[in-house]
Amino acid sequence: MVLPMNATLPATGLHVACIMDGNGRWARRRGLPRTAGHTAGEENLAEVVRIACARGVSYLTVFGFSTENWVRPKAEVRHILSLHKRLFGRVEELNANNVRINWIGRPFNEAGARTPAFVQRAIRQAIADTASNTGMVLTVAFDYGSRAELLRAAQLCISASEPITQEAVQSHLYSPELPNVDLLIRTSGESRISNFMLWQIANAQVFFTERSWPDLDAKEFDSALALLHK
Ligand code: FPP
Repeated sequence: MVLPMNATLPATGLHVACIMDGNGRWARRRGLPRTAGHTAGEENLAEVVRIACARGVSYLTVFGFSTENWVRPKAEVRHILSLHKRLFGRVEELNANNVRINWIGRPFNEAGARTPAFVQRAIRQAIADTASNTGMVLTVAFDYGSRAELLRAAQLCISASEPITQEAVQSHLYSPELPNVDLLIRTSGESRISNFMLWQIANAQVFFTERSWPDLDAKEFDSALALLHK
């Protein structure tokens, strides 16, 4: 599907972040297991990536799995991890859309990090396979928590004997080159931030919608973008 470019958007630099909530409720309403909701969520993420590319978004960052999500039932966690493998494996599609994969989360070799080896491999492979793309950067937050990111940045400043300035903290974030978030979207009627990109959303517009993540479509995405012009 090719969507018309919104001529009023800035041509470059726009950073949209998404808290993809409501997969479980989407499934429950249909009498399906929660895992089916996550599967639909992954499929819709692929669609949202296409929509964001068509709208000229430069950075799309999504909350794929938080440091708090590990307490979910084992089978659900396993399913969500397999969906990450599927997403990172969509290389043909990502390349066709000129999308570069990026990842933020607890570095694999640091104490407390929990990303399993097969997800680590999928992340590394996707980053390598899309490295030469020049279009939108799709950042997936996996094993991510914003307070952990900020504490680590402060600790790195201290161990390097650097004064803790805004620039120094920024330079020690998981992905320091990511610009500030312009627009944060959270689906499914929740109006919480849930420890997502607390530093980067300092000046973001926030769009809360009742839609579940699997139902976030181009029209709703455009309503969110419209906030930037108010
Ligand atoms: C919230 O739904 C979503 C998550 C826990 C994150 C997982 C997201 C996906 C599987 C979507 C695809 C994304 C990737 C990166 C593969 P929920 O279970 O909290 O929904 P509920 O609040 O309705 O129970």
